[in-house]
Amino acid sequence: MSAETVFSNALIVLEDQLLSGSVQIRDGRITDISEGASRTGEDFGGDYLIAGLVELHTDHLESHYSPRPGVRWNKTSAIQAHDAQVVTSGITTVFDCLRMGSDEDGGFELGEMREMADAIQAAEKEDRLRATHLIHLRCEVASNNVLDHFADFENDPHVRLVSLMDHSPGQRQFQTMEQYTLYYKTKRGLSDEAFARFVDSRLALSSQFSRPHRDTLARICAQRGITVASHDDATLAHVEEAMGHGVKLAEFPTSFDAAEASHKAGMSVLMGAPNVVRGKSHSGNIAARDLAARGVLDVLSSDYVPLSLLHAPFVLADDFEDISLPQALAMVTSTPARTVSLDDRGRIAAGLRADLVRVRRQEGVPVVRSVWREGNRVA
Ligand SMILES: [Fe+2]
Repeated sequence: MSAETVFSNALIVLEDQLLSGSVQIRDGRITDISEGASRTGEDFGGDYLIAGLVELHTDHLESHYSPRPGVRWNKTSAIQAHDAQVVTSGITTVFDCLRMGSDEDGGFELGEMREMADAIQAAEKEDRLRATHLIHLRCEVASNNVLDHFADFENDPHVRLVSLMDHSPGQRQFQTMEQYTLYYKTKRGLSDEAFARFVDSRLALSSQFSRPHRDTLARICAQRGITVASHDDATLAHVEEAMGHGVKLAEFPTSFDAAEASHKAGMSVLMGAPNVVRGKSHSGNIAARDLAARGVLDVLSSDYVPLSLLHAPFVLADDFEDISLPQALAMVTSTPARTVSLDDRGRIAAGLRADLVRVRRQEGVPVVRSVWREGNRVA
């Protein structure tokens, strides 16, 4: 049996309270938590000790793999760069998003995301990685080839989360045509005629494929025990459909009604941590802070800025009297872990994985001082 390690004089963030004291770990697990000052162990000098963050939805790997339109970077190198940034942001379990189905952005070639997943697993075997990496398949259900892409992951146990998305015009993320036009026509400099053709083709694909693809994917996930997420739900009909598909995670609902109905139905409502930090949504829909104020925000995701996952809970705890720091941090630790049935992490409690982060809070942005994954110092 290996020696035990003690972290002392820490402000320990438990699931429902703050405790000044020590945490003992051994063989990668938390073995004891005790209150009060201590002379032994690594002295935290009053810094916070929090559970390692659990990130369910990040596109961050994509930005390293394809740093410019049309550019593809070495996959292992992209994974290492992404891993280094997430772990130094306090994230010890990360669900890397891989896109399934070509969409308006072109997407990736068939087989390309399988190669990426293989590269992640090879990197893990070669001990190149510091966080635990799992896979979130983002499935564009209006795409004609989403099931072909998904078939590449038929037997992959690393797939623990699947989201069902439809980014067709005039609904969900793009509830108004103005939003869609701004996002696609203006960004791409399309003529009126080319844009009209583009919209028509998107709508035709959606009406042909969305429903059957949603049904098929939800059925496969139920058989394989994979958590299913809805995406950009805007209406009560969307939420009802999600309930029928056994959805446990409602990602980025775009109206208060959809968020509230999802929360009441027992789904975890996820919003972007950058949205909390910035105070608004990049696509002009409801703000995460409004959902927090009304008690229907359950999980945060770093989306495209890894450090936002640690920053946002401190912002929420600062700005909202009703939200304590343990409650805010639960949105990035215990609640996401439970939502995807990772019962061995996400809290500081005896018997759980020693995934831990030492955090110093100065003014504004918190500083990550050290990170441990399963008891090993990784940052
Ligand atoms: Fe979306």
